[in-house]
Amino acid sequence: MSTGEMMSWWVSASALYVMLAVILFSLLNYFKGDSLCRWLSALQQFSSTKPAVKLEEVKKQLFVGLGRERSHDPLLRERGAIRILEIGVGTGSNFTYYPPDSRLVVVDPNPNFARYYHAHKERFSHIRCERVITATGERMDMVPDNSVDAVVMTLVLCTIDDPGRILQQIIRVLVPGGKFYFFEHIREFDGERHRLRQKLQDLLTTTGIAPYFLEGCCLNKDMLPAIGAAGFSKVSAERFYAPIDNFVYQLVKPCLRGVAEK
Ligand SMILES: C[S@@+](CC[C@H](N)C(=O)[O-])C[C@H]1O[C@@H](n2cnc3c(N)ncnc32)[C@H](O)[C@@H]1O
Repeated sequence: MSTGEMMSWWVSASALYVMLAVILFSLLNYFKGDSLCRWLSALQQFSSTKPAVKLEEVKKQLFVGLGRERSHDPLLRERGAIRILEIGVGTGSNFTYYPPDSRLVVVDPNPNFARYYHAHKERFSHIRCERVITATGERMDMVPDNSVDAVVMTLVLCTIDDPGRILQQIIRVLVPGGKFYFFEHIREFDGERHRLRQKLQDLLTTTGIAPYFLEGCCLNKDMLPAIGAAGFSKVSAERFYAPIDNFVYQLVKPCLRGVAEK
C-alpha cells in the first residue's frame, strides 16, 4: 500500500469512527431523561444480581445493627418491630437485610423505580411497606418529624450536590436516638498508592462524562465531612475497599460505610 493510499484509508477510517460516535451520542441524547432512567433501573437490577458485585457481605455487616434497634413507637416496640425510612430505594436491594416485621417508608424521585420496587417487595414478605413517596430526599417534607427509628441510604449521595440539605431532613425525621445507616462509593482515599484511580475518577467527573452517563453520579466525592458536620450526636464510619473483583467496577471500589446517631 502506498503512503497516499494509507493516508486516504486512515482518513476514511477516522471519518467512520467520528460518524459512529456522533450517531451514538445523538441516540444517547435522544433517549436521555425518562427513558434513560428506565434503562438505568433495568441495569441496576441486572448488576445487583451479578456475582462479581460482592457487596452482600458488606451490607450484611452494616445492617446487622438494625436487628438490635428498639422502636420508639410503643405498638411496634411491643411487637419487636421498627420503622425504617429508605431514601433512594432503587430496586429494593436492601430489603433482604431488614429485620422481620419492619415497617417501611420509601422515598425515591424516579417514578420508574416503583415498578421494580413492587416486583421486589413480593419476594420479601418479612417487611411491610407503609408508604411509597416519589420525591427527593431533600424534599421529603411529607415524612413527619421524629417519626422513623432508622434511616437507610446507600449509593445515593454520589449524585447529590448539597448533601447538607438531605442530611438535615434525615435528622428531622429520625426519632431522638434514631440511627442513620449509610454506604457510598467515594473518591480514592489513598492517592499515593492508587493515584491512577484517583486521577481517572477526577477526570471522568470533572469532564462531565460520569455524571452524563450515570444519572448525575460523581466518582470523586467523599461524604464523610458533610455527615460529620450535619449535627448527629455520634458518627462511626469507615473508609474501605469494597470486595469487587470485576474490572468495570474498579472506579467505585473505594467506599464509605457507617452509622450516625441523632
Ligand atoms: C445507584 S441507585 C441506588 C439504589 C439503592 N439504594 C442501592 O443501594 O442499590 C441511586 C438511587 O437514588 C435515587 N436518587 C437520586 N437522587 C436522589 C435524591 N435527591 N433523593 C433521593 N433519592 C435519589 C435514584 O432514583 C436511585 O434510585
